[in-house]
Amino acid sequence: MKISIIGSGYVGMVTGTCFAELGNEVTFLDIDAQKIAAINEARSPIYELGLEDMLAGNRSRIAATTDYLEAIHTTDVTFLCVGTPSDDEGAIDLKYIRAASSDLGTALRSKEGRHTVIVKSTVLPGTTEQVVKPILEETSEKRAFVDFGLGSNPEFLREGVAVRDFMNPDRIVYGTGDEKTRAVLEELYTTFSCPNLATAIKTAEMIKYTSNAFLATKISFANEIGNLCKNLGIDTEEVFEGVGLDTRINPAFFRSGIGFGGSCFPKDVKALIAHAQRAGEEVDLLRSVIRVNDHQPLKTIQLLKKHIPDLSGKTIGILGLAFKPDTDDIRESRAIPIIGALLAEGARIIAYDPLAETATQAIFPAIGYADSAAEALKAEATIIATEWEEFEDLDYSGRIVIDGRNIEKAKKKAAVYEGVCW
Ligand code: UDX
Repeated sequence: MKISIIGSGYVGMVTGTCFAELGNEVTFLDIDAQKIAAINEARSPIYELGLEDMLAGNRSRIAATTDYLEAIHTTDVTFLCVGTPSDDEGAIDLKYIRAASSDLGTALRSKEGRHTVIVKSTVLPGTTEQVVKPILEETSEKRAFVDFGLGSNPEFLREGVAVRDFMNPDRIVYGTGDEKTRAVLEELYTTFSCPNLATAIKTAEMIKYTSNAFLATKISFANEIGNLCKNLGIDTEEVFEGVGLDTRINPAFFRSGIGFGGSCFPKDVKALIAHAQRAGEEVDLLRSVIRVNDHQPLKTIQLLKKHIPDLSGKTIGILGLAFKPDTDDIRESRAIPIIGALLAEGARIIAYDPLAETATQAIFPAIGYADSAAEALKAEATIIATEWEEFEDLDYSGRIVIDGRNIEKAKKKAAVYEGVCW
């Protein structure tokens, strides 16, 4: 099939490249000429494990352009993969969705034959039909629009393993309003044997939000119970091992610690809360999920002050800045509120991360950055904020360590050791 991908960010690059790997012809479309030039040289504008090799391996099936007419007129299906950032109130900002839909609609005006438009960006229920569709209709002529299909096909990709996740999905959700659009999606995903679910468009949009909200809830639940277990002297890990063995519950996403970060969970849960509020629905549980997550990283400061009551002028090491290991992404990283709280206490900071120091410098230009984990560990006390594998190999003997991510070696060797939930 001939596919165009609008938006060459994280979702667009993984989706387009994987579709090319499955044998389709893919045209990437972006307003950023630099990204387009990179893709045409088989360089990916974003890093994702295995992506660049896959891009290079499928070069003959991949094109990239900034020209909407060229991309839309030479393809049959378009995936909308532009970003959906949050505004200041946590509500979702649709400016890129609106702009891309408008340009797409204009290009469709002069296109012959049927075209299918699939929204892959994470958008709140109702957006595809109430925002994207009217914009497309406004900018398309009736003639083009008569033969026009619209759908929602959310992604469930984890950063760092997104290519693997795309190629090995747990399920595929086809949110469509008509048979023809569903048939297009079914053909595109025909090689996958996982369960699939055909739903209404707004149901598909809601499945994405509900999945992320539930996983975030699981983490905040594990953290709340973990705090209680620590207080009562009970082994949190064993508790969740026992709980997770229930097939109705499942053991995944029960790692307690300092909470969830990243570009999806915090943003999506907050957007769902804002959406519910506008709909006049109270969502106490979701609000608590965010409240627990906001409070959880600050537990490390409480535990640290048990051992160093006055942090003013003290040097504290931070091990890990990325929101999770194997990425340089610091969006909503739990290390950020920890550093903020330490600075407010007058502490000096020496931070280490194998990939995320440059990104953190943009937010905290004045703190110290270490060249190695061992250097950050030399501080008067050290807080572990990300579970990088290399932190399992450090020499923690004689050190004061506050552990937000359950690093076994630190637990065994540190002179003073406090885990947040264990
Ligand atoms: C997540 C979802 O997994 C994915 O399906 C969705 O499409 C996008 O959001 P991602 O943000 O890449 O993916 O990260 P993930 O690996 O899910 O971790 C998110 C955060 O939760 C990290 O900060 C991680 O440290 C934290 N986490 C995860 C926990 O604290 N405990 C857990 O048990 C699992």
